[in-house]
Amino acid sequence: MEKKFKRTLITSALPYANGPVHIGHLAGVYVPADIYARFLRLKGEEVMFVGGSDEHGVPITIRAKKEGVTPQDIVDRYHNIIKDSFEELGITFDVYGRTTSETHRKNASDFFRTLYDKGEFIEKTSEQLYDEEAGEFLADRYVVGTCPHCGNENAYGDQCEACGTSLSATDLINPRSALSGSTPVLRETSHWYLPLDKWEPALRQWILEDHKEWRSNVYGQCKSWLDMGLQPRAVSRDLKWGIPVPVEGAEGKVLYVWFDAPIGYISNTIDADPEGWEKWWKDPETRMLHFIGKDNIVFHCIVFPAMLMAHGGYNLPDNVPANEFLNLEDKKISTSRNWAVWLHEYLKELPGKQDVLRYVLTANAPEAKDNNFTWKDFQARNNNELVAILGNFVNRAIVLTHKYFDGVVPPAATLEPVDEALIEQLRALKTELTEALETFHFREALRVAMDIARAGNKYLQETEPWKMAKTDMVRTATILNLALQTCANLAIVFEPFMPFMSAKLIGMLGMGEISWDMIGRFDLIEPDTRVGEAQLLFEKIEDSVVEAQVAKLKEAEKQNLLEQWKPEEVKAEVDFPTFEKMDIRVGKILECKKVPKADKLLQFRIDDGMGGRTIVSGIAKYYDPADLEGKEVCFIANFAPRKLKGVVSEGMILSAQDADGRLVVIGPTGEVRPGSSVG
Ligand code: 2FM
Ligand code: ZN
Repeated sequence: MEKKFKRTLITSALPYANGPVHIGHLAGVYVPADIYARFLRLKGEEVMFVGGSDEHGVPITIRAKKEGVTPQDIVDRYHNIIKDSFEELGITFDVYGRTTSETHRKNASDFFRTLYDKGEFIEKTSEQLYDEEAGEFLADRYVVGTCPHCGNENAYGDQCEACGTSLSATDLINPRSALSGSTPVLRETSHWYLPLDKWEPALRQWILEDHKEWRSNVYGQCKSWLDMGLQPRAVSRDLKWGIPVPVEGAEGKVLYVWFDAPIGYISNTIDADPEGWEKWWKDPETRMLHFIGKDNIVFHCIVFPAMLMAHGGYNLPDNVPANEFLNLEDKKISTSRNWAVWLHEYLKELPGKQDVLRYVLTANAPEAKDNNFTWKDFQARNNNELVAILGNFVNRAIVLTHKYFDGVVPPAATLEPVDEALIEQLRALKTELTEALETFHFREALRVAMDIARAGNKYLQETEPWKMAKTDMVRTATILNLALQTCANLAIVFEPFMPFMSAKLIGMLGMGEISWDMIGRFDLIEPDTRVGEAQLLFEKIEDSVVEAQVAKLKEAEKQNLLEQWKPEEVKAEVDFPTFEKMDIRVGKILECKKVPKADKLLQFRIDDGMGGRTIVSGIAKYYDPADLEGKEVCFIANFAPRKLKGVVSEGMILSAQDADGRLVVIGPTGEVRPGSSVG
């Protein structure tokens, strides 16, 4: 079934321009797509790598409203931040467009119009929530209410972020409009639907029969969608922000963002190659690949292909190597909770470390299952792999060349078995590496690439040129020649993964143009040429650097919690006699110590003005006992005594939670005698 293609069109999901991109986006989509594009280019293949911003959709209008600016302001701001940061990370898009471009407006309208004229849509009327005060239909995201599954009172109409359930706005209990706060009403509206059911047999054949080689996560998701049965899907919305539906009488309606965004891939290709764009999309000898995250699978494997089939004349993707999700420090990355490592901030705070990030995200790529990024692992991979293995090998080869041959590449003489073994191993690894890249196994490919550096270190360890130099300079020359040739191979092998390091190494070795074919050759640098001074390819990352990053994450999360903090709901009413039953007093802490074998409990001796009492309280995590001695607190004096870990507690100390979730004891502010009543 292996088909021969002439060229490859690589698309990468168009990120929403409603915020910057984070490491989850990079690991899921852009780093693997860029590795693949660079790999193909090194193989001399014709490639078009398409990226761009997705500038429509409700999240953008919500952000604009929150900030009191226009949606255009938002997308202008983030399009530029995202585009610049991708560039700085070395992502080599051939075009990075935007879905607010004129080319796209026209192209998406024409696409819609073609389907409309061919009778590919059905028009249906349905009831949708309408905000009478604002005079607008409400997109699901604009409706807030109580989640029917977990009771979260601030669930969105499309999803409850507390329990993760996807919802429909009409599922919400007590729905309210995020625009005006008013209660929305149901009102009739009509929309165009793409009957996905019509394309189901063709999609089944194309995916389930013809593309069994797709990644199992992708294939499996498609199969379960197809097995559930496809339904017609609305491709228009009642919104102000978007591409107007190009049909008479469709005022106030725009194309649904998931209809226009994938067409953006085509529009951006048109911008990149106005004359020749069709060959990228319509020539059967062009192979199309969609790099996406798992949340986009249905749109790229079912909806967009159905749109392309309905239109006719377009190629379908040959593969969709979608990744799973990357977690951060064991928690889901969350934009709204600010639990993320943002690319533009990383680039500023860890300058010159683009390759380290590319390396770590590839080594930990969530290819088959969700994976985790931690700053500790980032540091360990840099220090123990990039510095200790790759950087160390290259550095040794170049330093020794300067030491024994004045920086001039020495010639190789007769090869010994250990030399032949190195050459053979490198050639075998090239086959493994190429195969892993061709099948989108980027983690595996990176591991193999690193094995070449490991082989280089082992070779130096076995041949010991520093000892050989005392007795046999001809043999030393051979060893260092092979070591330098291995460095030259590494410069090519790592180019797709770590282009900045590769360029530096190419410069140090004085190599000319490189290509994938050259890997495995041992004549890549000519004897008698000069190599530059050894510059470090990687630097050790100190604890303080990663500790600062972890602290920053925690701080951002705390700020976010503070912003979102709301007081708990007031409890059911009580009358005065009930209140009066509670005896709250002021006390002074005389003594405080840990309760043995209980990490949460502190034992207090309190001056209660009545001879003193013992109270046990669960705040050991938050205080050093010595700090509490002498403090005044409020406590409930008539709380029934309880035995906690063998100690009888005669009351309860009052405390409240601070911003960090710590319990803080509550005491009087002025001079109040121990034993005074609070009321
Ligand atoms: O999930 C997202 O971030 C979408 N903006 C991806 C769109 S991909 C393509 F269709 F444009
Ligand atoms: Zn919920």
